[in-house]
Amino acid sequence: MCGIVGYIGNNDTKEVLLNGLEKLEYRGYDSAGIATSNDEGIQLFKVKGRIANLREKVDNSVQSTMGIGHTRWATHGAPSEENAHPHQSASGRFTIVHNGVIENYYEIRDEYLANVSLKSETDTEIIVQLIEVLNDKNNDVAKSFRQAVALLKGSYALALIDSKDQEKIYVAKNKSPLLVGLGDGFNLVASDAMATLKETDRYVEIHDKEVVIVKRDFVEIQSLDGVAIEREPYTAEIDATDIEKGTYPHFMLKEIDEQPPVIRKIIQEYKDDNDSIKLDQDIRQAMLDSDRVYIIAAGTSYHAGLVGKQLIEKLANVPVEVHIASEFSYNMPLLSEKPLFVFISQSGETADSRSVLVETKKLGHPALTITNVPGSTLSREADFTLHLHAGPEIAVASTKAYTAQIAVLALLAVDTAQAKGIDLSFDPLQELGIVASVMESLTDQKEEFEKLAKEFFTETRNAFYIGRGMDYFVVQEASLKLKEISYIQAEGFAGGELKHGTIALIEEGTPVIALSTQANVNYSIRGNVQEVAARGAKTCVISLEGLEQESDTFVLPHVHELLTPLVSVVPMQLLAYYAALHRDCDVDKPRNLAKSVTVE
Ligand code: F6R
Repeated sequence: MCGIVGYIGNNDTKEVLLNGLEKLEYRGYDSAGIATSNDEGIQLFKVKGRIANLREKVDNSVQSTMGIGHTRWATHGAPSEENAHPHQSASGRFTIVHNGVIENYYEIRDEYLANVSLKSETDTEIIVQLIEVLNDKNNDVAKSFRQAVALLKGSYALALIDSKDQEKIYVAKNKSPLLVGLGDGFNLVASDAMATLKETDRYVEIHDKEVVIVKRDFVEIQSLDGVAIEREPYTAEIDATDIEKGTYPHFMLKEIDEQPPVIRKIIQEYKDDNDSIKLDQDIRQAMLDSDRVYIIAAGTSYHAGLVGKQLIEKLANVPVEVHIASEFSYNMPLLSEKPLFVFISQSGETADSRSVLVETKKLGHPALTITNVPGSTLSREADFTLHLHAGPEIAVASTKAYTAQIAVLALLAVDTAQAKGIDLSFDPLQELGIVASVMESLTDQKEEFEKLAKEFFTETRNAFYIGRGMDYFVVQEASLKLKEISYIQAEGFAGGELKHGTIALIEEGTPVIALSTQANVNYSIRGNVQEVAARGAKTCVISLEGLEQESDTFVLPHVHELLTPLVSVVPMQLLAYYAALHRDCDVDKPRNLAKSVTVE
């Protein structure tokens, strides 16, 4: 959601900014822009739409060795060229890009900017106008920048340039992610390391409410009082080739195919020399010390959390509640005496989850983050982190992160069970190995799911997924996948709930996809399939080997009953992928969606 890139060095900046913005496209955006600076002043290029349009608009004859760029996902004001970033102050001296939401926008406008006529509908413009107003008094840009930042309430990642100074980019952040990249003779600013990996793998974290002055050969971190802060850089552990599509038509298909190797990598990472599970002792202790686990997550990660609850309760006998992050703060349940908060987040940057983390930390409760990005905000701010080892996930629709989350939750559950002396009758690492092979056999049968997608989803306006028990959680994820990338209105229901209302929606030809991988509900879910079929639904049953019936559409090879979500979701992901493809949708960048949801 929104992306920032900045560069100050000795080479021309346009390509670095445009390449960086392309790498940030996956976060979701609806307009984009760059500003470059040279002796002639600031050159501003903005478009509504894709970076490809921006590339066409940028004047290639302009040479400049510093600049800032932005992809905008509209919050205040419609997606348009006027509202696209960068924004400029009234005189044109200052130019800014911003991610986040300024909550005291009206207060600042009324108190400081009564005499300024604003050119856009954005909350961002008030920041750059405020800096100019303050600088008119202070005649000190660094001081004015710090003062302006201190007045802001809300979330922000900012990069500012001054047309009178080609030596500095002013940077600050609160809640929204932003990093400084370190190069040889140049430095960079980026929302995430993926934007600038081509240039460097060395980064410095910026903490909330700090400002940073980025020069060609020096980076100075300061507190809002102007006191210098020392911080060591770190090396980003992302391979630049991981963020290329290679021969795949879409990142989503590549990431679906990467699931078996990701499961194998997780086994490798969490296995000790005796082939037993190896988890951080402190995490084990935190699980043992807690009387209830509260899983907090959003979207697909929430769906993984629903499966995680079953795994932890059934294997480790620890009660678990799963909460939607954006609801938790407003509907906080009565907490147990010794809660452990577990944040599940692919990006580690989801603002809704982070606000729960901030709140529960204030209450003194321990927190574990399960994430694909170890240096992310949720990872840094929690007490413990479990890494998903899934490699960068670029497609907006999450696939390999979901299965990695479930696999890591399974290991957490097993580890806790073993620490409690609970005797499990299976070898979890071996079972996960079987899962990886089964996943592979499913991704090898893509044409089956392509055919099914064509048959079921080419014409339809809506679709229903049904399941019971563990399958109910998977069908919720299946329907989210379908709706977000194919725009088919899809819902995942508990089979037993159908006749309490939803069955009224079934018409002649309505697609209903049923999942049956759980022995205890196999009979009942098939009853639900009969009920919808009798009312005209076009049904598809995906079952698990051992529970299948002759008329089933597809039979999944057998895996341990508690691990079935890891394999049953694969056909669902492929169905959604091919449905979107057949409907000519932009699979990797679905409309209105952002990969990293950094505003609440
Ligand atoms: C859907 C999807 C989203 C994310 C959600 C949380 O395919 O990707 O629903 O799961 O926005 O994001 P993270 O996991 O980064 O906190």
